[in-house]
Amino acid sequence: MLVDKKKEIKVEKAVLPVAGLAKRWGEITQYIPKELIPIVRRDTANIKPAIQYVVEEVIDSGVKELIFIMDFKKKALVDWINNPPQTIKDKITTKPYPVVFKMVEQDRPRGLGHAIGCARSEIGNEFFMVALPDDIVIYGVPPAKRMVDVCKKYNASVLLSHTVPKTELPFYGVLFSTPVEKNVDEVHEMIEKPSAVLIEDMQKKREHNMTTISGRYILKAPEIFKEIDNTKPGARNEIQITDAIFNLKKKGHKVYSLLDEGFRIDTGAPHRYLQATHFFYSADS
Ligand code: G1P
Repeated sequence: MLVDKKKEIKVEKAVLPVAGLAKRWGEITQYIPKELIPIVRRDTANIKPAIQYVVEEVIDSGVKELIFIMDFKKKALVDWINNPPQTIKDKITTKPYPVVFKMVEQDRPRGLGHAIGCARSEIGNEFFMVALPDDIVIYGVPPAKRMVDVCKKYNASVLLSHTVPKTELPFYGVLFSTPVEKNVDEVHEMIEKPSAVLIEDMQKKREHNMTTISGRYILKAPEIFKEIDNTKPGARNEIQITDAIFNLKKKGHKVYSLLDEGFRIDTGAPHRYLQATHFFYSADS
């Protein structure tokens, strides 16, 4: 159902969950938060950590308030947010409105859904963005901005998606969807980190497109927060945002995906981070 609410819907707040323990990175994260490990570039002026790419993208997409879900033990990250690099300050200065950074504590890591739930006191009854700092997206028009347009058109939640090789699907949240227009699908089913066997099974049963969630979400408050409260731990025994969104969908709330044909780089695990560094370093040459 198309609802003409274009004028009323604004997405002015973004939640960035950065409290994770990053166990895959070993003991170094006791001193250096994973979010601040720089991606090496040939051009030294461009050397920056993954989180900076994501913060820049979020600001470029028109967001006015960035809410970091924080573990205050990550002191270097707290400093970075309190006093961000000059490049970010300069970007903010070009905006005709103030851009504010806030921090909210997640007392213990209980999963992405739980982390997003920690932002509820900062979000009103409105659509808001979630951007995962592990995922870098190469963009002309920021994907988050294009997602806002889809959100306005359908008055619904929107997830950014990419196509990945089938062997990669079990590492992500997987969407089963059907097209409604070019690069926009309606999502029918969502599974967080499905097993290879389950993927085979789903594929046999249905003719749906199968894509992965790429760390950008536009969600509706207060509905999603209520759903997070009712969501039981799922994959990795954590409260998963994928499950909460799917539970909401089952109650009639529409969910769409925007397929990004551009390049997405996941820096979460060390081997993926290495690929990201290689990509950027080579791109500079
Ligand atoms: C998270 C989400 C997953 C999504 C992924 C994107 O997984 O739970 O649905 O596909 O980010 O990077 P994680 O990176 O925590 O394993």
